[in-house]
Amino acid sequence: MKTEVLRVNSKTREFLDCAAELIKRGEIVAFPTETVYGLGADALNQSAVAKIFVAKNRPANNPLIVHIAKISDLKKLVKGITPLAKVLIKKFWPGPLTLVFKKKAVVPDIVTGGLDSVAVRMPANKIALEFIKRAGPIAAPSANISGSPSPTTANHVFGDMNGRIPMILDGGSTKIGIESTVLDLTSNPPQILRPGKVTFEQLKTVIPDLLIAKVIPGKEVRSPGMLYKHYSPKAKVILANKENIKELVSFYKNKKVAIIAKQKHGIKEAFLYKTNKELAKNLFEKFRDFDEKKVDVIIVEAVKETGLGLGIMNRLKKAAKETI
Ligand code: TXA
Ligand code: MG
Repeated sequence: MKTEVLRVNSKTREFLDCAAELIKRGEIVAFPTETVYGLGADALNQSAVAKIFVAKNRPANNPLIVHIAKISDLKKLVKGITPLAKVLIKKFWPGPLTLVFKKKAVVPDIVTGGLDSVAVRMPANKIALEFIKRAGPIAAPSANISGSPSPTTANHVFGDMNGRIPMILDGGSTKIGIESTVLDLTSNPPQILRPGKVTFEQLKTVIPDLLIAKVIPGKEVRSPGMLYKHYSPKAKVILANKENIKELVSFYKNKKVAIIAKQKHGIKEAFLYKTNKELAKNLFEKFRDFDEKKVDVIIVEAVKETGLGLGIMNRLKKAAKETI
C-alpha cells in the first residue's frame, strides 16, 4: 500500500475531505492532535477499527480513545454525563483531557477492548477538529507501532507506518508532545489512569478527593495501557538523579551516549532544556533522533513529579531500563 502524506493548510483544505472519504469507506488515516499524532478509524465501524490494531501491532485488549468534535456525539456514545463531567468538559475541552465513561451499546467492543467503559476526548487542534467533524466519531490511538515513542511529526508517523496505512494528514509538529491525561469517571472517587498535560493539581481544584491509579502487582488494573512497556527508543534509557549523572557518564565512556538534561555534563549528543513544557514537547522526538544517530545509551535527568513533571516521569519510567 502506498502511504500518501498530505500537508494540510488553508490552501489545501480539500485534503480533509479526501481523508474523511477514506474514513467513510472503512479505511484508516493518521492525523495531528495537540498532543501526538493519532491513527483514526470510524469508531462505529468494527472492521475499520480492526485495521488500526493490525497496522500498530497493538494488543487487542488495549482500548482506544474515541475523538469527537461536538458534544452531541458524546451523548450518543456514553451513559451518565454527571454534573462533574459537565464541569470538566466546560473547563478542559477541547483539550488534552480524556474522560472515561460507561459506554452505550453503539460503541463496538473492539474499541473498548471488551470493557463496559469508553474513553472520549475532544482535541484542541484545528485540523483534528475539522477532520473529525467530517468523519467522526474517530477511534484513535497514537500513530506509532506499539511500544515505540508516540509520533509528534508526520515524518515520525511515516517512519513507523509507511506501507501500512493509506494516508497521513501533516499538520506540522504537535504542540504538547506527550499524550492526554486519562481520567476515569466511572470510579468513585475519580482516578487519573495516565497523567498528562492537564495536571493532577488542575484536576484537584475540581475533584478534591481525586486519586492517581497505581499498578499493584497481582491486582487488576483499571486501564490496560498501564501494563504495557511504552515509548521505548532502541537505545537503553537510564533515568538518573542529577547527582548520579557524573558517575554514569564515566561508566559508559566507551559507549555512544546521549543526554537529556538541564546541563551537558560533557556529552556532545545533548538535548538541553529549560522548562518541563519544552521537555515534553521534544522528548519523543529526541528519542527517535538519538536512535537515528545510533546512540547506545540515553541518560535522562529525572524531574520533579509535580505539574507536567508527573506526566513526563510516567513516560520516562516506562521507557527506562534502569533508574538510578
Ligand atoms: O493524547 C492522546 O491521548 C493521544 C491522541 C492521539 O489523542 N492518544 C493516545 O491513545 O495516546 P493511546 O491509545 O496511545 O492511549 C490510550 C490510553 C491507553 O493507556 C488505554 O489503555 C487507555 O487510554 N484507555 C482507553 N480506553 C479506556 C477505557 N475504557 N478504560 C480505561 N483506560 C482506557
Ligand atoms: Mg499510545
